[in-house]
This record gives sequence, C-alpha cells and structure tokens, in this order.
Amino acid sequence: MNTPNQVGCISQRRNTPYDGSTFKDVLRLRLIHPACLAALVFILGVYCQPAKATEKVVADYMLNCQGCHLDDGRGYPQRGVPKLNGYLGNFLKVPGGREFLVQVPGSAQSELSDQRLATLLNWMLQQFSRAQLPADFKPYSTTEVARLRLHPLVNVAGLRADLVRKIEKINPSTDICASCHGAKGEGNQALSAPRLAGQSASYLTRQLTNFKNGLRGYQPEDKAGISMRALALTLNEEDIPFYARHYSTLKLAKENKPLAASGKHLYNGTCMQCHGPNAQGYEQLQSPNLNLLPDWYIAQQLSHYQSGWRGNSSSDLPGLWMRSIATHIGSPEELTQVIQYIVTLPEQK
Ligand code: HEC
Ligand code: HEC
Ligand code: HEC
Repeated sequence: MNTPNQVGCISQRRNTPYDGSTFKDVLRLRLIHPACLAALVFILGVYCQPAKATEKVVADYMLNCQGCHLDDGRGYPQRGVPKLNGYLGNFLKVPGGREFLVQVPGSAQSELSDQRLATLLNWMLQQFSRAQLPADFKPYSTTEVARLRLHPLVNVAGLRADLVRKIEKINPSTDICASCHGAKGEGNQALSAPRLAGQSASYLTRQLTNFKNGLRGYQPEDKAGISMRALALTLNEEDIPFYARHYSTLKLAKENKPLAASGKHLYNGTCMQCHGPNAQGYEQLQSPNLNLLPDWYIAQQLSHYQSGWRGNSSSDLPGLWMRSIATHIGSPEELTQVIQYIVTLPEQK
C-alpha cells in the first residue's frame, strides 16, 4: 500500500519518486499537505497584500522624515522639531492649517512626488494623530498637494505660531466658550447657554456681532444675554468668524424621542415657511436651525422676543421679523406644543 507518510507539512509517498519539475507536481505528489498550503496562502493573503502599500509609505517616512520627526512622530521639541503625535490633526481644524501641512518646508521641499507626499501626509495624520482629526476629515488628494506645493511659505515660524494660537483657542481645555457652552458645544442649561455645535456659521457670526453691537443682551434684566454680551465685547473682527466656523463644524447626535405631533399643525402653519419642514433653517432667510436646540432655550428666546429683549431695533430686521411672529403665538399650551414638536423632530443629517 502507498499510504502517504506525513511528517509535519512535508508529505512523502514511498514508491513515487519526485522529479522536481512543476508546482502542480508539488500539489499532486502532496509534497506539501493541502491544509498547510491553504494556511500558507491565507497567511500570505492577510500579511502581504496590505503590507505592500503600507511598506512603501513607511519607507518614504523613514527615509525622508524620520531623521527629524523620529519613528513615532515625537520629534525634538527642544531643538525646534515639533511633536506630531497627538497634535498634527489639530492643524486641520483651523483656517490655513490644511495648507500649512503641505507647504511647510519638510513636506513641500521633499524629493517625493505629489502623489507620494499626499499618501504620506494622510498616513502621518492617521498614524500619529487620529484622535485629533476633525469629524469631516478629507484625505489630501494629489491635485491638492500639487497646487499647494507651488506656493512656498515666507515666514514659517510666524505662521506656525499663529496657527498654534488658533488651535489653543478651540482646545476644549483652554477655549473660553467651552466654560459656558460645554467642551463639545453641547450647551449648559444651568448657565442658560445654548448648544452651538452644528448651527450655521453665518447665523452664529451674526448673533455674535449682534451681542457685540448691543442688539442682544441690552436689557438689564436679561442675565443670560448680558453675560454673553460681556464675552462678545472681548472678541475681535477675526475671532467672530473663527469661532462661528469652529462651532458650526462640530457634530453631536440628537437624542431620539417619539414625535410629539400635536404641535405639527401650528408649526407647519406658522414656522415652517421660514425654518423649513425639518426646522433646519435657511441661510438665505437668515433663520437658524431650531432642530438642534433644546426646549428650554427655544422657550427662553421666544420669551425674550415677546418681552422685547431681542428683535427690538430697526437695524436688526431678522430679529424684528421673529419678534412679530413670537408675539402672535396664541396660548401657552400652543407654545409648549410647538416647542415639543420641534425638539422631537428627527435629526437633520
Ligand atoms: C531637517 C529636519 C526635518 C525633516 C527631514 C523633515 N521635517 Fe517636517 N518639520 C521640521 C521642523 C523644524 C518643523 C517645524 C516647522 C518648521 O520650522 O519648518 C516641521 C514641521 C512639519 C510639519 C508641520 C507640523 C508642525 O507641527 O509644524 C509637517 C506636516 C512636516 N514637518 C512634515 C514633514 C514630512 C512629510 C517630512 C518628510 C517628507 C518632513 N517633515 C521632514 C523638520 C523636519
Ligand atoms: C459666561 C458664559 C458664556 C461664555 C463664556 C460664552 N457664552 Fe455664548 N452664550 C451664553 C449665554 C447665557 C447665551 C444665551 C444668551 C441669550 O439667552 O440671549 C449665549 C448665547 C450665545 C450665542 C447665541 C446662540 C443662538 O442660538 O442664538 C452664540 C452664537 C454664542 N453664545 C457664542 C459664544 C462663543 C463663540 C463664545 C466664546 C468666544 C461664547 N459664546 C462664550 C453664555 C456664554
Ligand atoms: C418670517 C420668518 C420666520 C418665521 C415665520 C418664524 N421664524 Fe423664527 N426666526 C426667524 C429668523 C430670521 C430668526 C433669527 C432672528 C434673529 O436674528 O434674532 C429666527 C429665530 C428664531 C429663534 C431663535 C433661535 C436661536 O438660536 O436663538 C427661535 C427659537 C425661533 N425663531 C422659533 C420660531 C418658531 C417657534 C416659529 C413659529 C411659531 C418661528 N420661529 C417662525 C424667522 C422666522
């Protein structure tokens, strides 16, 4: 009988001499046991395929960047080579930061092609700073890198210091807004401070300007408005669009609640034309997104409009429109119903 004599993965058939010609023979003669072969193919499949693409980018990093930035991106901060790990992704959160990462001499002046530099920067961001990447992170494309590389930086240190200053402004532990509006811009009822996360940038800009110019927070009894106005007075022309943009990009999930439909009729008849079917707001009408606001804040603002604490000046037309609507809402029951309808509308994606 010709029973194969199995020793580990190598099979031997007595009486069938191996002529060593082709790979098929290896299979036919069962020089390698089929189960072992399958395992080998599997292991090769798992390790070799993705490794190819990664290896190339790792090699690009090692040969071109690691000398200064070190293997894990920790750099030599004491010698002026910044720490990339746990930080690099922050640059993508501030205006000008995305361009900077390509235009900085280490990137722009490297020998790498545009395509390889794009792949390398995307890899570095994921590898060293995944936790800091903004929610809407889009990887660099070759064309973007090619375009940015054409413009070398003039004052690298000055620009970098400015970007770092902006990053610190929106760092939850140092952001002045976060102390009242929360680390994620989620709002804080105890301080009457609303959610800002996800609100439109143009609306936030206009409201900050209104506070600063005394179109909101002008009434001595309006404690909430007064506290926000005091803060707005410390902001300069550059700060206002900067914070507005930042908070508009933050994403927060809305808690799912069953729709409180009794206010639907009133909402559709009185509010929808300006705030939209999902209460998402319209840029062109300067109306805010109400869908993301909590009930207590909607009630707070409707009462501010009604008592003339907001929307009381001919230089604030959107406020005047909204004030005239607020003063025409019928009974307190209707007010509660319309607010409950808005806060239980599904999230606007
Ligand atoms: C000769 C040392 C050196 C090498 C090599 C080098 N860098 Fe840098 N890199 C720096 C320094 C120093 C900075 C700080 C900004 C400046 O002064 O240029 C920096 C900053 C950066 C930044 C911006 C991050 C920040 O915090 O400022 C990126 C992105 C970057 N380098 C990418 C690369 C890439 C990609 C390579 C390889 C292709 C590379 N660097 C090679 C020294 C180097
Ligand atoms: C001292 C607490 C406090 C701080 C700090 C603070 N706010 Fe406010 N903010 C409030 C309160 C309270 C309101 C609600 C005012 C009202 O009822 O009219 C408010 C309202 C706002 C509004 C109006 C939102 C809307 O839906 O109409 C914006 C925009 C805003 N804050 C932005 C900011 C920004 C940006 C910062 C940081 C630069 C900041 N706030 C810092 C307390 C604060
Ligand atoms: C004619 C258009 C129009 C209609 C109708 C309208 N709104 Fe408004 N609403 C606006 C505009 C514009 C603003 C921004 C006003 C400002 O800048 O003070 C606003 C602001 C608000 C705010 C303040 C939100 C914030 O973040 O501070 C609330 C709350 C609000 N509307 C609720 C409602 C409700 C509830 C209805 C229906 C009963 C309604 N609106 C109907 C145009 C409208």
